[in-house]
Amino acid sequence: MPSVYFQTFGCQMNAADSDAVRALLSGRGFELCGSPADSDLIVVNTCSVREAAERRAKSRIAEFAGGKKARAGQRLWVIGCMAERLGDKLKEEIPGVDLGAGAKQMERSGEAVEAHFPKGGAYVGINANGGCDVSGVERLSPPLFSKAAVTGFVPVMRGCDNYCAYCVVPYVRGNERSVPYEAIESTVKEKVGSGVKEITFLGQNVNSYNHGGIDFPELLSRMAGISGLERIRFTTSHPKDCTERLVGVVASSQKFASHIHLPVQAGSDRILALMNRKYTAESYRSLLDMIRTRLPRADITSDIMVGFPTESDAEFRETLELVRCARFTTAFMFAYSPRAGTAAASMEEGISKAEKMARLSELIALQTGITREIYDKTVGEELEVLVTERQQKRDLAWMGQDAGCKRVLISCEGLAAGTILKVKAVRSSGMTLIAEC
Ligand code: SAH
Ligand code: SF4
Ligand code: F3S
Repeated sequence: MPSVYFQTFGCQMNAADSDAVRALLSGRGFELCGSPADSDLIVVNTCSVREAAERRAKSRIAEFAGGKKARAGQRLWVIGCMAERLGDKLKEEIPGVDLGAGAKQMERSGEAVEAHFPKGGAYVGINANGGCDVSGVERLSPPLFSKAAVTGFVPVMRGCDNYCAYCVVPYVRGNERSVPYEAIESTVKEKVGSGVKEITFLGQNVNSYNHGGIDFPELLSRMAGISGLERIRFTTSHPKDCTERLVGVVASSQKFASHIHLPVQAGSDRILALMNRKYTAESYRSLLDMIRTRLPRADITSDIMVGFPTESDAEFRETLELVRCARFTTAFMFAYSPRAGTAAASMEEGISKAEKMARLSELIALQTGITREIYDKTVGEELEVLVTERQQKRDLAWMGQDAGCKRVLISCEGLAAGTILKVKAVRSSGMTLIAEC
């Protein structure tokens, strides 16, 4: 049997895409391999969102390309967002890449099996409609290679029409397309049938899902009715599409995790307008108030960026002020990285790299302190934890997640992945809760 090694960079959408390609290859007789040196095929799924993400992927790909000589006939495929962005330049930049299939045309990996591994069996197109119809990739489930998982990702829409000034995603992922409801329902039911307890619905801009008159709140309400599905999450919500109706649906059933990821990016109205985010710091705060009124225990998390072109020190301090008030449970924090072809790439930055890094450190220190306070305050509370995996380093210890977004370490005999149990948080490490049963 031919074997394949996967390396996936980037967001959860990439993880879901890698699973789909894995399933496609599995259907053609490939076995998953734990070591790149021993595999017939290496697939690298890439991210373009920041310069550093591309740098990491490129150096790994170059390493794999260099290792090809040691195994006759080994193939190297690069898929995902960086493959899309670089197009034909990818093979020029990194000799040794056999196939580049961008995020919009990963279906080509099906054809490539035939071209590269002719004994792999008859080619069956995974996307009868050709082009970038999303349903082809989603229908490839369940991922046959995956170990018995209790959590799963289901992409419900792809692409983005928002064109935030700094962001490459609309260019590499294309326009918004939503998956037909029936395909989502059958994927979810299949996953639940194979033991999945928690599904995270994915979209670059998930709450703008709309297909055949079914919008995102409606989709979520219907999903809550699926028996055996214990917990529902979704990401990422753009603040402009996070409505009271959506939050009402989340509040309507215990099945919904009490967690909303709501990237704010910045706290200055001038910078938010330049970013093309379509809300103000004030309207974002009102949104937080609305969510906290309806979901008082919710974990709200965010993405925050420092050093957008022309951001002054005073404007950066507005971001710090917003973060202080918002009390996000956690946040992903980034220094602005110019991406060719985006609107911001042609703006004069006016901030040194050292200044950007100093702002990022200050922001991280502030948010880390808030995260610690929130975790510490949870000690003594009863949590409902979905046990997800064994903690490798300690005996009897399992990792899980509470009904919000907090990581929980449980020491308990006789546990199994997939169990949902009520436990008491007895300690906090500032980023993990320790619980006893
Ligand atoms: N669709 C999601 C996020 C996609 S990218 C959303 O709209 O929120 C994830 C995060 O990466 C963004 O929220 C942003 O904070 C960050 N990001 C995107 N482009 C970036 C860039 N050019 N430089 C630095 N950070 C960036
Ligand atoms: Fe990028 Fe903005 Fe779209 Fe998010 S909403 S993917 S940040 S363009
Ligand atoms: Fe990166 Fe593409 Fe996701 S650019 S963040 S892998 S959509």
